[in-house]
Parts: sequence; structure tokens; C-alpha cells
Amino acid sequence: MEKLLISGGKPLEGEVRISGAKNSVLPILAASLLTNEDVIIGNVPHLQDVTTTISLLTEMGATLSIDEKMKVCINAASIDSLYAPYEMVKTMRASILVLGPLLAHFGEAKVSLPGGCAIGSRPVNLHIEGLRAMGANIKVVDGYIVAKAKKLRGAKINFPTATVTGTENIMMAGVLATGKTVIKNAAKEPEIIDLANCLRLMGAKIDGDGSSVITIEGVKNLKGCNYDVLPDRIETATFLVAAAITNGDLTLTHTRPDTIKVIINKLKKAGANIAVKNDNINIKVNKKLDAVNIVTNPYPDFPTDMQAQFIALNSISRGKSKVVESVFENRFMHVQELVRMGADIEINGNTAIIKGVKKLTGAPVMATDLRASASLILAGMVAEGETIVDRIYHIDRGYECIEEKLTKLGASIKRLPQ
Ligand code: UD1
Repeated sequence: MEKLLISGGKPLEGEVRISGAKNSVLPILAASLLTNEDVIIGNVPHLQDVTTTISLLTEMGATLSIDEKMKVCINAASIDSLYAPYEMVKTMRASILVLGPLLAHFGEAKVSLPGGCAIGSRPVNLHIEGLRAMGANIKVVDGYIVAKAKKLRGAKINFPTATVTGTENIMMAGVLATGKTVIKNAAKEPEIIDLANCLRLMGAKIDGDGSSVITIEGVKNLKGCNYDVLPDRIETATFLVAAAITNGDLTLTHTRPDTIKVIINKLKKAGANIAVKNDNINIKVNKKLDAVNIVTNPYPDFPTDMQAQFIALNSISRGKSKVVESVFENRFMHVQELVRMGADIEINGNTAIIKGVKKLTGAPVMATDLRASASLILAGMVAEGETIVDRIYHIDRGYECIEEKLTKLGASIKRLPQ
């Protein structure tokens, strides 16, 4: 398994271009299943999860081409298999996003149940219940969701918990259903708005995305479109923390500062100097920051996908802090690894209590999931000595060219072969 070797102590300086959002491009790729025409997607990040989704779509029979700028053109008219196998779904839970579009456009689907993952049980019961309310006949057979619906019909769906991919699946099902679908307690993430913008270009009638009530008026057919995905707010925020933890001076370009207000405010509170201009953010840090308390919650609150990175930052900041994880049940796997690097962190249920230490020291550590890997890289960049991060394949799922980008900014980081 590939590893990353990091020598700590180098401040990050310079300019970095933010890539397209993983959590936007995955549902938008799935949305290409809703039409027989070409869907052309730009600002596609070169990520393992994108490769997995593209393989899934082509195995189903879609035709696909990619140009040198990573513009992806998909045509689903030739789909001849409505099947997402366990081997693919187990590597990427977001494969569940093909369920709604397949049912809506082709009337059936067989998609593996994702099962558990490192950050908790992560069920998909709300996706299934929502589609059932729209008239789908769904059975779970031998670990697979087997779904059929001659024609989905609009329904009122009230999610007991706001779910991002659940909202996206129901939106994609609703656009081709008969009548009106209303999603209450819908997720409000910017990636939901991005998907809705793309679907609207395809001819869908959607209102209220970005609020907790989304209304969809079903249409007969959707057409092709040409759409550029939103910049990645989690990559943006991770680079801001990278600058903060290394006492750096970074300018992030091609991003959307309005999607990470809560992160910018936390970093300012910690003592970072941040200036926002159009789609650029500059961050300068030249002192030890103050630790900040965090409670993760759905958008627009603090994102769970930034919890691990802020724990790394808090662990070498001044003072004691409390980080509460409210979205996933088991998302502190990075903590024991940070402790091996000298961090002082105690876990009590869904709360981490962090006492800032003077320094971290390099150590061999193990990445357990995507954002945990990011936190270990951040810790490695500030630690004294060398850190080796194992199981680095997690990072390639969600960060485009991470070591190239960091190296260009002055970090000492190298991929070691298997
Ligand atoms: C998405 C993001 C992921 C992010 C997460 C929370 C994508 C591809 N992934 O994941 O990066 O960490 O949102 O912001 O966009 N739940 C249920 N039943 C369901 C569905 C969800 O109980 O059927 C629960 C989950 O266990 C969790 C909460 O709802 O506690 C939110 O999860 P959800 O928003 O669905 O996460 P994902 O869409 O999988």
C-alpha cells in the first residue's frame, strides 16, 4: 500500500487553485442517467471516487469521453445494465446515488447496500423509504436493493434527519415522476444547489434548493446540458487549515468563499488573518493560534468533513478546546493516531477534549478514512521530524493531486511506492 512521507516544519506559501467539488460531481455524474442526451461536465476533479463512478456508469453501458481538461461527456442512451455491484459500492458509498436516477428513467435498479464504514453505520433507509413513498416497489435481497417502478409519482417526503445523498436521490427521482414531490427537512448543502442548477439546465422544475423545503414538479423528459461543477469547499477549508497549522501565507483561487463562512469565522476567531476577494481567499498566520470549540452539524453549520482537520489544528493551538461530532457516530478514528504524534486528546462519547501541546512529533500513522487522512497530513506538516501516513488510498478518493499541490507550496511530502 502506498504511503506518504512528510517532513514537518515548513510554512506553506504561494497560490493554490481549488478543484471541483467531489460531493457535487458525484451526484451530477449520476444525474446523467436521467437523459438520453449528452451531459457534459466541466471542472471535474481527478479523484478516485470520480474514476469509480465513471467505471460504474460505463459498466452499465453508458458511453463516455474525457478531454484533456477533464471535461467529461456522458451519454446514457446505451445503458443496458441497471446494476451497481457490491465491489463498487463498498469502495464508494456515493454509488447509492444511481438508485434514484435509474428508477426514474429506466423503471428499475439493483444496487448493493453500502454496509458500514469507518465512520459509522451510515444506513440508507431514508433513501429507500422516500422512493417507496413515490410508489417504488423495493425489496432487499441478498444484500442488494432491488427496486422497480413503472412510473414514479410525486410524494411528500419528510426526512426525520437531513440527509445529503438522500435528498439528492429523491430530487433525481422526482424530476421525472408524475406530479409534485415535496422534500421537507431537506439537506441545504451547496452541493444540493449545484445538483439542482444542473438539473434545471436539463429542463427539470425544482424550487427551494438551499432551503429545508424543496419542491419538484415532474417533467416528461430531460435534455442534455453543459455544466461546470462548484469548487470544493472542503478542499478549500483543508488548505486554509494547512496554512494555519504551518504558520503560512496562502492564496486560494477559483473557490467559493460564501460556502465556507463558518470555517473562515472559526479561523479568524483562532487568530488567523483572512482576506476574501471575489473567488480568492488569502490567509496569513504568523503566531500560535487559539484553540476553538466546534460542534459539527448539517450546513450551514460546521461541516463534519472538517472536524478531523480542526482537531489536528487545535492539538497544537493555545488552550483547551471541545469538539462535538453530531453527524456521525464514530468519526474520531484519527484521534488515536494524533495522540501517537504527541497530541493530548481525550474522547468521551461524541466529544473530544483537546489540550494544546507545544509540539507534535513525527510518527508512523494509519489513515482510516478520507478526512482522517487529511488531518494526519496536516499534523505531519507541523510535526518535528518525519511522519509516514499509511493507507493513503483514502486521500486519493477526495483530494486532487494533494502532494503535488502541497509540494508546490513548500511542503516536504513524498509518495512512497507500495
Ligand atoms: C454526505 C457527504 C459526506 C458528508 C455527509 C455529511 C456526499 C457524497 N457525501 O454523505 O462527505 O460527510 O454528507 O455532511 O455528498 N442517515 C440515516 N439514514 C439514511 C441516510 C442518512 O440515518 O438513509 C444519517 C447518517 O447516518 C448520518 C446523517 O443521516 O448520521 C447524515 O448523513 P448523510 O447526509 O446522508 O451523509 P451522506 O449523504 O452519506
